[in-house]
Amino acid sequence: MKFFIDTANLAQIKEAQDLGVLDGVTTNPSLMAKEGIKGQENILKHYVDICNIVTGDVSAEVISTDFEGMVKEGEALAKLHPQIVVKVPMIKDGVKAIKYFTEKGIRTNCTLVFSAGQALLAAKAGASYVSPFIGRLDDVSTDGMQLIEDIRIIYDNYGFDTEILAASVRHPIHIIQCAKVGADVATCPLSAITALLNHPLTDKGLAQFLADAKK
Ligand code: E4P
Repeated sequence: MKFFIDTANLAQIKEAQDLGVLDGVTTNPSLMAKEGIKGQENILKHYVDICNIVTGDVSAEVISTDFEGMVKEGEALAKLHPQIVVKVPMIKDGVKAIKYFTEKGIRTNCTLVFSAGQALLAAKAGASYVSPFIGRLDDVSTDGMQLIEDIRIIYDNYGFDTEILAASVRHPIHIIQCAKVGADVATCPLSAITALLNHPLTDKGLAQFLADAKK
């Protein structure tokens, strides 16, 4: 399973890249705003800065909601860097835009996916990635992981090559569950990735080994 980091924070992206396990980055307008990145020029420069830190795919989201606007924005984003994947919302014009981008050879990430039907539409339109938001489903008392399982079955039934990018991951257990049910990618906050490192028996065992090494 690929690990993406879900942030626009350059220091965190670098830390994850330096760990040697990072396969890509996802951003969204909220994450960009959180870093104080404002204005079109700064936003585009920030995407390039991210691409220069990592070697994998970097999702950059359009903010238009009409077909023409999404196409214009997406084409400009795709031209920025070969690692850019255009992130498009799961709405009617978004599906049309994904189909358009697919035919033009521009890679896409269909975002804000909350049902298997939406994931099926995204795959049929040719999305490179589909982003089901598991944490936000959990937040409304719906099993987010069940959605990942359902999409896995549907995509495998028909051989869709759209990658399942589990999004809105909140903690390390989500990552383990994603790996168990066959998500292709999990995009996570840095805290969830580094939490995978921790086990008290590792700490206890290491302390013992270091103490014994002095004997
Ligand atoms: C990723 O592509 C999404 O934008 C992100 O995972 C959403 O996460 P959140 O629900 O924690 O905001």
